[in-house]
Amino acid sequence: MVDKEELKNLLRELRSEEDLSKVKEKAREILKNVDPKVLSLAEQELVEEGMSREELRKLYDIHLELLSGSITKVEGGMKPTHPITILKEEHEIILENLNNLERVLKKVKNSKNFGEIEKELEQLEAIAHVLLDAESHHGREEKALFPRLEKHGITGPPSIMRMEHTDLRKRKKALGKLVEDRGNMSYREFADKLNEVGSYILKMLTDHIFKENNILYPTALESLKDSEWNEIKTEFDDIGYCCFTPRK
Ligand SMILES: [Fe+2]
Ligand SMILES: [Fe+2]
Repeated sequence: MVDKEELKNLLRELRSEEDLSKVKEKAREILKNVDPKVLSLAEQELVEEGMSREELRKLYDIHLELLSGSITKVEGGMKPTHPITILKEEHEIILENLNNLERVLKKVKNSKNFGEIEKELEQLEAIAHVLLDAESHHGREEKALFPRLEKHGITGPPSIMRMEHTDLRKRKKALGKLVEDRGNMSYREFADKLNEVGSYILKMLTDHIFKENNILYPTALESLKDSEWNEIKTEFDDIGYCCFTPRK
């Protein structure tokens, strides 16, 4: 296993290197054997040493590319009512909606008037509804899961995820409002605005989910005790679920 100092050096190198192809091979090798908790702690220490959160976010993007397909953490044997199982299943449903969003964006871009996209407008309303309802998912993460990680000294990843939730919340509201107000603008204006906000949500939320599935959740699984998971489940039940949470 790679140790924290080695990882911090690599992250510093990734940050300062203009030509990423030079360090990428080495990074791929190192990240292959990385323990998600050690990665989280290394990143957090860099922030404490003065690396800005924006810079850290850039690093996360590099990780995404490097880690794609390389993490095969075994999480077998988890109960269907385990908070992480619930969150991951909700992620799958959010991702399905993002796939639909991508299809709608393409069709809207290639159409000329509202008449051509009647079906897509209906789909868009449904997608906006699901995305806005997913606030309960993000709320459960923020209120029940992140504070427990922070109690264990893991503050970096939760702070980045919170920052992204805030940003996404704003964009999702803008998407909902745009769909609602479409009668007040020309088709071109609608299509351009939809492309801007829709593409942003598509990329940001897909990355966000990837980071949680591959960095934050595995870190949590490794750090929290059974008793804490039980408390989290009770808090989840109190906060409530999304309209699309799979029922057991
Ligand atoms: Fe999240
Ligand atoms: Fe999430």
